Amino acid sequence: MMELPDIWILRLVVACVFCLHIFIRSASGYATEGFENIACCADSNYTDPQTTLNYTTDYRWFPDKGSCRRTKDVLNEKVRLFFVDEGKRCYNLSTIKNKVYLIRGTFPFNGVNSSFNVSIGVTQLGAVRSSGLQDLEIEGVFRAAKDYIDICLVKGEVDPLISHIELRPLPEEYLHDLPASVLKLISRNSLWGSKDEIRFPTDPSDRIWKATSSPSSALLVSSNVSNFDLKSNVTPPLQVLQTALTHPERLQFMHSGIDTEDNEYRVFLYFLELNSTVKAGKRVFDIYVNGEIKKERFDILAEGSNYTYTVLNVSANGLLNLTLVKASGAEFGPLLNAYEILQMRSWIEETNHKDVEVIQKIKEEVLLQNQGNKALESWTGDPCFFPWQGITCDSSNGSSVITKLDLSAHNFKGPIPPSITEMINLKLLNLSHNNFDGYIPSFPLSSLLISIDLSYNNLMGSLPESIVSLPHLKSLYFGCNKRMSEGGPANLNSSLINTDYGRCKGKEPRFGQVFVIGAITCGSLLIALAVGIIFVCRYRQKLIPWEGFGGKNYIMETNVIFSLPSKDDFLIKSVSIQTFTLEDIEVATERYKTLIGEGGFGSVYRGTLNNSQEVAVKVRSATSTQGTREFDNELNLLSAIQHENLVPLLGYCNENDQQILVYPFMSNGSLQDRLYGEPAKRKILDWPTRLSIALGAARGRRIK
Ligand SMILES: *[C@@H]1O[C@H](CO)[C@@H](O)[C@H](O)[C@H]1NC(C)=O
Ligand SMILES: *[C@@H]1O[C@H](CO)[C@@H](O)[C@H](O)[C@H]1NC(C)=O
Ligand SMILES: *[C@@H]1O[C@H](CO)[C@@H](O)[C@H](O)[C@H]1NC(C)=O
Ligand SMILES: *[C@@H]1O[C@H](CO)[C@@H](O)[C@H](O)[C@H]1NC(C)=O
Ligand SMILES: *[C@@H]1O[C@H](CO)[C@@H](O)[C@H](O)[C@H]1NC(C)=O
Ligand SMILES: *[C@@H]1O[C@H](CO)[C@@H](O)[C@H](O)[C@H]1NC(C)=O
Ligand SMILES: *[C@@H]1O[C@H](CO)[C@@H](O)[C@H](O)[C@H]1NC(C)=O
Ligand SMILES: *[C@@H]1O[C@H](CO)[C@@H](O)[C@H](O)[C@H]1NC(C)=O
Ligand SMILES: *[C@@H]1O[C@H](CO)[C@@H](O)[C@H](O)[C@H]1NC(C)=O
Ligand SMILES: *[C@@H]1O[C@H](CO)[C@@H](O)[C@H](O)[C@H]1NC(C)=O
Ligand SMILES: *[C@@H]1O[C@H](CO)[C@@H](O)[C@H](O)[C@H]1NC(C)=O
Ligand SMILES: *[C@@H]1O[C@H](CO)[C@@H](O)[C@H](O)[C@H]1NC(C)=O
Repeated sequence: MMELPDIWILRLVVACVFCLHIFIRSASGYATEGFENIACCADSNYTDPQTTLNYTTDYRWFPDKGSCRRTKDVLNEKVRLFFVDEGKRCYNLSTIKNKVYLIRGTFPFNGVNSSFNVSIGVTQLGAVRSSGLQDLEIEGVFRAAKDYIDICLVKGEVDPLISHIELRPLPEEYLHDLPASVLKLISRNSLWGSKDEIRFPTDPSDRIWKATSSPSSALLVSSNVSNFDLKSNVTPPLQVLQTALTHPERLQFMHSGIDTEDNEYRVFLYFLELNSTVKAGKRVFDIYVNGEIKKERFDILAEGSNYTYTVLNVSANGLLNLTLVKASGAEFGPLLNAYEILQMRSWIEETNHKDVEVIQKIKEEVLLQNQGNKALESWTGDPCFFPWQGITCDSSNGSSVITKLDLSAHNFKGPIPPSITEMINLKLLNLSHNNFDGYIPSFPLSSLLISIDLSYNNLMGSLPESIVSLPHLKSLYFGCNKRMSEGGPANLNSSLINTDYGRCKGKEPRFGQVFVIGAITCGSLLIALAVGIIFVCRYRQKLIPWEGFGGKNYIMETNVIFSLPSKDDFLIKSVSIQTFTLEDIEVATERYKTLIGEGGFGSVYRGTLNNSQEVAVKVRSATSTQGTREFDNELNLLSAIQHENLVPLLGYCNENDQQILVYPFMSNGSLQDRLYGEPAKRKILDWPTRLSIALGAARGRRIK
């Protein structure tokens, strides 16, 4: 041991006999299990001479060589430049659930200033903003939540580019008390290291330790030590620990340009006493971060160990000032061998794993016959956070689940992906307007599906019973599949509200009765219609065309009875009609006290319900030519239709062979009164109203 005259550049050399074998050990002796090395756009797989690691190309993820570019400066190095219209591109890499990993992306400077975001899973890791000539690296530390991780590039101002991706298992210590965090590397330093950077194979975890010599007033200590106690596997490699900086009074490290958005950081400090003459209690110092004391009277040797590390949680904004100050009474000034600064970010829960698994399977199944379909281009990464085209998610129980899958109108061919039946949270499924063929798969009863649209495909066979009996299903369209057998299951679920009954729009309906409103023989309906027209004309003196029906589907809670084709689609409307007992009717009409009209169906009485609503009660007379069948028809029709020109049906009574319909009472009298009654009641109809009535009547359409 000898002391150099210039204590400012003092070097302590301790001869060591154990060290050699560590440096001579060949790289192949180190486990590279769990390592993933990807060289984007590389011509072939290769072994990196420096690290001895084997890199593979990325054509597994992106077979397209059209997005490969040569980098500006490094000969033969290629880079993948993604042209992303919107959204992102992701690489998925295998992981082991719950293990801690480091993932590193290299983003070469390509002559243009880049600006795009990088995320792991759905957690934003950082923006790549290169405006210099330097390659950029982004590194994150995360705990695998499942058996793979996505690293995604999200388009910012320019198209993202990438040259390398590296995945490494890391010691648990990095995240052991942070269950829900991702760490983004800010800086990893080996103090006054002999090499520019130390990585694999020297560091079995392939962390990259950059040699740092600042600050200028500090002293370098180095020692070929080797036989110290490895207290933890977070320990940097010996080569990193063998050099340290020291100073008789204080060491200060400054990091500026620290991200301002998330200001929680983790600082890992690594200490190994390199002066063998220093004993416990001699080198004692305080550790400050941004002026705040984090550790008081810190003594490396205090626990009888040669090596120690400490982890600090710190807040910093713009500047991180790490200062180690000799404690009062201590003999030696502070010493530091290495440190890391990592930014803490909250881990954002990804989409329900089961859903992701299934949708991945669906993607593969669809891809079998639809390679290159543009609709699947966005299908990488998390399906909800950077939504895949056609996928809609909802939040349930803290994580996202896929509730809607709309693959309609994208020219898909081949069979319906069988895994689609495993989407346990799916509510809406639309596969219409494609060329899907084969049979319709069976869905489990546990399915939450509310709406299925399989229409306009090339499906064959018949509609499986399992679909019809889905408990939540309200809408089902399967028409316009030329090869499907005629007629669905006998009993389309009674809770089904929207359906095309397998019918192809524009063609003859397959089954069901057809009525023509304009030719309905049912006189009572015409009366109701007429009264309704007057009622409406009186209160709404504007032209309301028939399209007021709208082409929309309404999903209703109660049973539905009929559908009515309108201009664009079917309107099926369910009105909650009441059933009245004979007694109710008698009470309401005070035993049929006030007769207000006589129709083909029977007599009409005025009455008042116990909620004081005025009603008109039509009682089928024994002589009525209209039978039970007509009664059912009127009931079904009127309860299914709501139109301004029709008096709505409130309810009915079908007891003791008595058939009674209950309508709201129209206080303005009948059409006859209006046109031919007493002068006081007469009213001249204006032309728009007349036109509206005429149009309304003329547009009466077939109903099923
Ligand atoms: C790289 O591949 C070669 C040949 O396949 C193998 O011998 C070597 O061990 C690999 N290197 C590492 C670090 O796994
Ligand atoms: C490169 O390595 C990958 C992964 O091991 C392998 O799938 C691929 O076939 C290799 N490519 C070539 C050209 O050897
Ligand atoms: C990545 O995704 C592809 C396609 O979805 C799949 O085939 C592959 O198994 C996935 N890889 C991993 C590691 O999960
Ligand atoms: C990149 O950005 C820097 C600083 O923001 C600017 O000086 C430089 O001109 C830009 N280079 C290009 C190629 O846009
Ligand atoms: C990139 O990340 C920043 C913040 O981290 C965010 O403001 C920005 O919108 C992101 N850009 C894209 C394209 O996602
Ligand atoms: C440590 O040992 C190696 C190999 O013996 C030697 O080359 C190196 O100079 C030593 N380092 C110091 C700081 O003495
Ligand atoms: C500390 O290092 C010295 C030599 O550098 C060694 O003799 C001693 O056993 C080590 N102590 C522990 C606890 O490892
Ligand atoms: C090592 O310790 C001795 C006294 O124990 C001291 O004289 C010497 O300066 C120390 N060297 C360093 C580099 O601190
Ligand atoms: C850094 O922190 C130390 C200790 O709190 C303080 O003395 C020093 O002035 C700070 N330096 C800067 C540039 O803020
Ligand atoms: C650091 O902060 C996290 C939460 O932000 C906490 O769970 C953890 O215990 C802290 N660790 C230390 C060493 O203070
Ligand atoms: C929410 O999560 C809890 C526990 O993880 C589970 O018991 C419950 O069934 C979940 N609820 C729903 C609606 O998924
Ligand atoms: C399914 O998609 C087609 C075309 O995008 C659309 O016309 C149809 O209304 C959708 N079906 C349902 C039930 O929403």
